[in-house]
Amino acid sequence: MRDLKLIKKAVLPVAGLGTRFLPASKAVPKEMLPIIDKPLLQYAVEEAIESGIKEIIFITNPEKISIKKHFENNHGMETKLINSGKTDLAQKVNPYQFSKIKFHYINQDEQNGLGHAILQAERLIENQPFAVLLPDDLFHSKKSCLNQLLDIYIKTKASVLALNKVDEIDIHKYGVIKPGATDGNTIKIDDIVEKPNFENAPSDIAVSGRYILNPTIFKYLKSTKSDLNGEIQLTDAIKLLLEVEEVYGKVYEGQKFDCGSKKGFVHATIALALKDETLKEDIKNIIKDIF
Ligand code: UTP
Repeated sequence: MRDLKLIKKAVLPVAGLGTRFLPASKAVPKEMLPIIDKPLLQYAVEEAIESGIKEIIFITNPEKISIKKHFENNHGMETKLINSGKTDLAQKVNPYQFSKIKFHYINQDEQNGLGHAILQAERLIENQPFAVLLPDDLFHSKKSCLNQLLDIYIKTKASVLALNKVDEIDIHKYGVIKPGATDGNTIKIDDIVEKPNFENAPSDIAVSGRYILNPTIFKYLKSTKSDLNGEIQLTDAIKLLLEVEEVYGKVYEGQKFDCGSKKGFVHATIALALKDETLKEDIKNIIKDIF
């Protein structure tokens, strides 16, 4: 594990209503739905820890108590498993890596958008650069997506966004950048537009759910006006930030699954099952049988 002193805190916004997963998300937060045997949220938490993060700030809502329960120690269950000789399972209940992390929970009282969610973390960030991980985006890559961004942050000390090319028909769903000078795999961002029409889009390069942000962003989150849906968009604050600071991006290496949609969630489940040596052959046979 890499211990980067530069970025120690990560914000994970999980306060959204998860309407695309109703009725499943009525009592179980969308972020707690499992991909195979692990809640979606845990993949993002593990990515943050692998990248050297020491404090995780969940922006949550009071309905989502299971998130806190999941990341707290469960001594009772651990003891029962150890007493019955299941030490490997005990480690799954209270992973050693979690014991080194400070978890914070801040409530976002109203779901006023991603930008508003991140703004709730301002006090805990204490004017330091920080990471943002959107758990909906599950990355599978040799080097974690956040670590790829950290490489650029170390060189530039500027905010860095994860980027990927998207199909024309999907452009209207994302924040889309206007690329400037490119140095190897680092792209200087000249402009950014939230959910443009295909005709007005400055490129086919969209922002995905990993960011490293300088704390200057809070000033611009505060001055960003709500959109027509009453949401404060992070993309709009980054657009303001671009007027005073350089911002970079990287088209990440690896695969991303958009688990905020049903299609992406099922895709991730199948893809990860096919990467799991204990499941691979059975799942391949099941798929063959279906067709
Ligand atoms: P999404 O818009 O994809 O999630 O936000 P959602 O609103 O929960 O889902 P749908 O569209 O209704 O199905 C991306 C991330 O930002 C968080 C969400 O929890 C999700 O992890 N979020 C979104 C907040 O924390 N607060 C908000 O006000 C909005």
